[in-house]
Amino acid sequence: MKVASYIRDLVPYPPGKPVEELKRELGLRDVIKMASNENPIGPSPLAVQAIKDFLNKINFYPDGSGYYLRRRLAQELDVKMENIILGNGSNEIIELLCRTFLTSEDDEVIFSFPSFAVYRLIAQAMGRRKIEIPLKDYRHNLSEIKDKISKNTRLVFIDIPNNPTGTIVYEDELNKFINGIDDDCLVVLDEAYFGYGTGKDYPDILSFFRNNKNVFVLRTFAKLYGLAGLRIGYGIGDEEIVDYLNRVRQPFNVNSLAQIGARAALDDKEHIKRTLEINKKGKEFLYRAFEDMNIEYIPTYANYILFDVKQDAEEIYNKLLHKGVIIRSMKGYGYKTCLRVTVGTEDQNRKFIECLKEVMGV
Ligand SMILES: Cc1ncc(COP(=O)(O)O)c(C=O)c1O
Repeated sequence: MKVASYIRDLVPYPPGKPVEELKRELGLRDVIKMASNENPIGPSPLAVQAIKDFLNKINFYPDGSGYYLRRRLAQELDVKMENIILGNGSNEIIELLCRTFLTSEDDEVIFSFPSFAVYRLIAQAMGRRKIEIPLKDYRHNLSEIKDKISKNTRLVFIDIPNNPTGTIVYEDELNKFINGIDDDCLVVLDEAYFGYGTGKDYPDILSFFRNNKNVFVLRTFAKLYGLAGLRIGYGIGDEEIVDYLNRVRQPFNVNSLAQIGARAALDDKEHIKRTLEINKKGKEFLYRAFEDMNIEYIPTYANYILFDVKQDAEEIYNKLLHKGVIIRSMKGYGYKTCLRVTVGTEDQNRKFIECLKEVMGV
């Protein structure tokens, strides 16, 4: 079969190992997964109820325009409905942006390395030119990114917080960066972990969309709202950009249960509050545990922590798997001695630290 070399060279996205798979492989009974930055307390109960109530209507196609969810989001975010596009996960919107704006061989996309792996994967699947700028001190190197922007640059992806480091860029840095970028280059600020980042350092990402026609913001229901399995995310951008994306997307890209669940999750203030409390407490527990073990970590603005074991990360990852703890080795992200752990529940965090101590012999 004839296939382009860029497809042959594609390495599929390595998802966090599923719990059931590890149980099967190693014959383990108790397995915890802290590998994919999912919400450890489960989905929003209001979303679950709304989905149950809707189940007998799934013989109908979903609302292709996502009218009610977009209207609800528009109210919540104080933007127009025409500024919002829904996607089958924010992953789909990343793909739509690439399909809409990377249309000629010269078109380029820029992103950091390491950052969310899907930017690279989609650009490569389309055979498009990608420029990867190494992080500097675990943060986006905005001045280097800006230097590399050329007349061919159509898209720049910046995840804030960055996955996998959990670091952010500050408002003044972002202002300086965006100022002067050509209107034909779309700056995508991927705020998948919005809500987790607090403090006066944390930038108001939406304000950059409000002030710049060429800024597009991505968000997801997969993290804060606990709806990763439903696959639903959204983008906020200039009406003209959203209109183009709508022409490219499939007519029923977001299923009805996802739309119904997402609307209910937005109202579930109690679930959001609990999620953020658990994350804050868990983060503090893990920071203290790492400090006790003399393990360096990067303070995070998200629900995961990058830490450095100063030895082969893959080995620690595999030993933890044998104890029923799934986290992520960062070897493939260029950090050979680092791992990333999702902040879990109190019990999960404790079990993870106990097992980490055992496998590291401390
Ligand atoms: C930075 C970043 N952007 C986007 C996504 C994709 O989210 P979704 O589940 O909505 O496709 C993730 C998921 O881990 C992420 O870390």
